[in-house]
Amino acid sequence: MSTLSELRIGVIGVGGRGSLAEYAHKPQQNVRVVGGADIDDEQLESFKEKFGPKVFLTNDYRRLLERGDIDAVFVTSPDFYHENQAVAALNAGKDVYLEKPMAITTAGCDNILKAAHENKRKLYLGHNMRHISFIKKMIELIDNGAIGEVKSVWCRHFISYGGDAFFRNWHAERRYTNSILLQKASHDIDIIHCFSNGYSQTVNAMGALMVYDKVKDRHAPGEKVDVAAHWDEAPWPPLSLKGLNPVIDVEDLSMMQMMMDNGTYGCYQQCNFTPDAWRNYTVIGTEGRIESFGDHPGECVVRLWNRRTTYNPYGDEQYFMPPEEGTSAGSDPKIVAEFLDYIRNDAKITTSAVAARNAVAAGCAATESLRNQNKAVNIEPLPKTLTDYFTNDEIRPIGS
Ligand SMILES: NC(=O)c1ccc[n+]([C@@H]2O[C@H](COP(=O)([O-])OP(=O)(O)OC[C@H]3O[C@@H](n4cnc5c(N)ncnc54)[C@H](O)[C@@H]3O)[C@@H](O)[C@H]2O)c1
Repeated sequence: MSTLSELRIGVIGVGGRGSLAEYAHKPQQNVRVVGGADIDDEQLESFKEKFGPKVFLTNDYRRLLERGDIDAVFVTSPDFYHENQAVAALNAGKDVYLEKPMAITTAGCDNILKAAHENKRKLYLGHNMRHISFIKKMIELIDNGAIGEVKSVWCRHFISYGGDAFFRNWHAERRYTNSILLQKASHDIDIIHCFSNGYSQTVNAMGALMVYDKVKDRHAPGEKVDVAAHWDEAPWPPLSLKGLNPVIDVEDLSMMQMMMDNGTYGCYQQCNFTPDAWRNYTVIGTEGRIESFGDHPGECVVRLWNRRTTYNPYGDEQYFMPPEEGTSAGSDPKIVAEFLDYIRNDAKITTSAVAARNAVAAGCAATESLRNQNKAVNIEPLPKTLTDYFTNDEIRPIGS
């Protein structure tokens, strides 16, 4: 039994990603989920089944935040609510776990960071990729000097489930996500910054809506949609998908280039209509390169080349990632445990609110570029008063 006083948790957006709360609820360690807010009554009902009949339920997140018996909240609602809900939670004196992307605009992120600073609250961003084993392995290799000084980071991102995940509901509309480039790549831009040890200073991008606008079968406006309903059937090819969102105005193919503030270069390529689903990272340094194949532990390998050769598909060294328990490639239990340790014990953290803001800033700038003749867009750095507040944050914390 823990000797710490009970930590009481509320959840805004209890369905979907709100399932993270199950990793937090540990009454034997004095951590208890005590309330949930969601606009969907069915989701609230299933939340009650998980956490017991005494749990507080509301359709209005502001009622949850009024409660003095809640210390911290998970904000796991769709992207376009993050700014208002996170700011309100911080203003109400709660510590906050906020899902990625931090917000759908850079100004929105800055408002959240200001609210954390002004209220002296803890803000933890749900960039769970930083907890995935192959990412940690690549950072360890970089930190140990295996490839010399990092000069360029590339990521190719294949998303077979793009149609199911992003073109059936709110994700498909600019007003709710800004772009799928920002929505999905906020993870990867963060990792590219992390590997580069620098933040994007200037970006440009190209992209288009190539496939999903051609799908004629759409659901009615306002119809409740279960995005996972057809996922396991793996409909193929993408043009055969049924029940897509009535409005689709985000790109399904995008490619961005990044120049970092430390002179490193990066690029990210995303396609939402590939047959397979995985990411491929390449990091090139002055004395070698590393590359990842697959992104799930148990089926993922990192290869290192550090001797001159012509073609050696297996690299000079290979590092196989063993299987891990838990959702999101084993990262979800770790990220929730770290958030709890951070708010209770001020523990060192692996994710970074400043880096999360800078990932959104790069994603927003790239979206602006691809919709404006691919022009280069410069990114305003975060004011020093704010970076100074987030002293626990590091761009590349793992293994350092
Ligand atoms: N880190 C990751 O690996 C990861 C994975 C998936 C999604 N996400 C992020 O998590 C967030 C949620 O994504 P999701 O797919 O679970 O979304 P979702 O559409 O399933 O919504 C999550 C829940 O929020 C509820 N909700 C909607 N509007 C609300 C409001 N105004 N107030 C309270 N609740 C509301 C929904 O009813 C639902 O129960 C997004 O920001 C997404 O980008 C992160």
